Amino acid sequence: MRLWPRSLAGRTAVVLLIGLMAVQGIGLTIHALDRLELQALVQSREIASRLFGLWRNLVMLPPDRRAALLAEFELPAGVSASYDAQPAVQPGMPPPAPEVMQRYRLQGLGPALGPPRIRPREVLAAALPGQGFLLSLRMADGGWLNLRVQPPPPRPWHSETFLAAFIAMSLCAALLILWGVRRMTRPITELAAAAEALGRNVNAPPLPETGPSETARAAHAFNTMASRIRRFVEDRTQMLAAIGHDLRTPITRLRLRAEFMEDEEQRRKMLADLAEMEAMIEATLAFAREDADAEPAVRFDLAALCQTVLDEAADAAPDRAEALRYAGPERLSATGRPAALKRAIANLVGNALAYGGAARVTLSVEGGMARIAIDDDGPGIPPAELERVFQPFRRLEDSRNRETGGTGLGLTIARNILRAHGGDVTLVNRPEGGLRALAVLPLAGG
Ligand SMILES: Nc1ncnc2c1ncn2[C@@H]1O[C@H](COP(=O)(O)OP(=O)(O)OP(=O)(O)O)[C@@H](O)[C@H]1O
Ligand SMILES: [Mg+2]
Repeated sequence: MRLWPRSLAGRTAVVLLIGLMAVQGIGLTIHALDRLELQALVQSREIASRLFGLWRNLVMLPPDRRAALLAEFELPAGVSASYDAQPAVQPGMPPPAPEVMQRYRLQGLGPALGPPRIRPREVLAAALPGQGFLLSLRMADGGWLNLRVQPPPPRPWHSETFLAAFIAMSLCAALLILWGVRRMTRPITELAAAAEALGRNVNAPPLPETGPSETARAAHAFNTMASRIRRFVEDRTQMLAAIGHDLRTPITRLRLRAEFMEDEEQRRKMLADLAEMEAMIEATLAFAREDADAEPAVRFDLAALCQTVLDEAADAAPDRAEALRYAGPERLSATGRPAALKRAIANLVGNALAYGGAARVTLSVEGGMARIAIDDDGPGIPPAELERVFQPFRRLEDSRNRETGGTGLGLTIARNILRAHGGDVTLVNRPEGGLRALAVLPLAGG
């Protein structure tokens, strides 16, 4: 439903506003009803005195001029009068309620109207629906003055002041509520933004621990958590670097010993294994460094970066330069860490070339995100493995057998880098065959 806002600030404001308007409506109504009582009393007094006046004037006139007077006499709203031969009040009609009788002073009406010569010969009264009543007064000549009194029903909400007051108060309240709610929910928005920033970069700046005590406490707790995560990541990175570093020495010693092995075949195999171990350690160390070194984010040309990666791949494998192609804009300005992003794209292009025999890079922009698609002509990856190959050291069987020489960290590193930029890398098998690696990157910088 469109009327129910999605944000906490919006929802709080709507609830508060509805509640406030209801309270205001009730308050103003009570006030109006109070005044209503008074108004009704004034109104009935006015009607009663006008009716008495009419009667007196009428009685003084000769009968033939009474109709003319009635026609021009100004009667209050809701009252009609006629001069007839018969009373309008019929026998059997219920009498007016005592409250109405009292309000219009119908009790003892005869004497109230003045000296005996102008009193009516007979007074009949009957109730009408609501607060109205019929009054028939008999004149000396036998004619009847029939009065029909039906005061308009009270309408407390129709007063202009009511509406104006309601609108003015609601407007003031709305402004105050919007301002207050915005202020109150701002820390939540900031906390969400900080959590998002921490997800991309553990070294994001801490939240200011100011404001009301709850906010300050939440910010403090968040900062403590962030620093624990930072320390945890640092410890792990350091441990990884230390292991990688310390393994080098025994491997070097092993290589020296292998040189003295008698069996030619065994020696060759052992040296190959040791070379593979060294490559893995090298990659691990590079991965650890990737986390540790913080390259500054700058504006750079993403289109040029993609083309450079392809050019360098072509230089490394001149025989396959034909299979490397770029499609997309000549220039595309983006914000991020170019050296890291270049490594990520180079890993994807390297995979496409190694396992798919081609690398066609297509760069496009969609909704503020750059899309870099890298297509190849290889066998693709079994659907169950599409996500798993992103795990460190994960390699598929056939690529191990082919001895393409990788360590299984390329995709892990590529995804790490793009996620740190607020983007991502995914793999899909293209329906026409071959694999597509798709990197998305927010152009404004993560
Ligand atoms: N374009 C591709 N086509 C088919 N399989 C692929 C493709 N890209 C990656 N793979 C599979 O995913 C595995 C993991 O790739 P990843 O880049 O992480 O490691 P690697 O290429 O084996 O080693 P390196 O660390 O040197 O990149 C590869 O070993 C390969 O089996
Ligand atoms: Mg690779």
